[in-house]
Amino acid sequence: MHRRITGKLVIATHNPGKLAEMKELLAPHGIEAVSAGELGLGEPEETGNDFRSNAAIKAIAAAQAAKLPAFADDSGIVVDALDGAPGIYSARWAGPTKDFTAAMAQIERLLRERGARTPDRRTAHFVSALCVAWPDDHLEQVEARADGTLVWPPRGTAGFGYDPMFLPDGHTRTFGEMTSIEKHGLPPLGLGLSHRARAFVKLAEICLEPR
Ligand code: IMP
Repeated sequence: MHRRITGKLVIATHNPGKLAEMKELLAPHGIEAVSAGELGLGEPEETGNDFRSNAAIKAIAAAQAAKLPAFADDSGIVVDALDGAPGIYSARWAGPTKDFTAAMAQIERLLRERGARTPDRRTAHFVSALCVAWPDDHLEQVEARADGTLVWPPRGTAGFGYDPMFLPDGHTRTFGEMTSIEKHGLPPLGLGLSHRARAFVKLAEICLEPR
């Protein structure tokens, strides 16, 4: 049986970009979102082998610490020509200073080393795994992806992370050139393009009261 979220929900992320996106997505459903940062919760080590288990590790740790239902996501970019790298290590590739200009340059360097210059050799997808954990150990989990190709040089200053390098399939502008509504807004306002927006639609179907 799926369980609905009501009342307060802890958002177990310390990434301000993701927190802002999630607050925007949850607001229409009347959920009061409090961040793990506001509650002074620590960040558990992400020891899972895939996005799904890392999301669960973060949600379970926050739900246990806050004694409230907690939401976590794990996400990243999977580059086909790099055998799926950086994948679950997408944040780590940017280093302690969170330098995504350097992380994107690293991807480009490796793609060139492999001779991946044409769009068909530069395919990639973002993945978003979402998990809601309750203090009694109940879990709800969903996953979605956004497919595209990687461009060089990066384009646009909107968004975060690898957005300026990612051209979603069927579009002429990168995520870095799109407004937040275009990238992750849900219909009728946006197109629900991003991996997180798509995963969120799935989660809303099973865990949220209709808008
Ligand atoms: P984590 O989910 O906090 O482990 O980190 C995921 C990392 O993947 C982020 O720090 C970004 O580098 C990257 N990432 C995830 N989603 C997006 C996105 O929508 N745009 C750009 N980069 C993203």
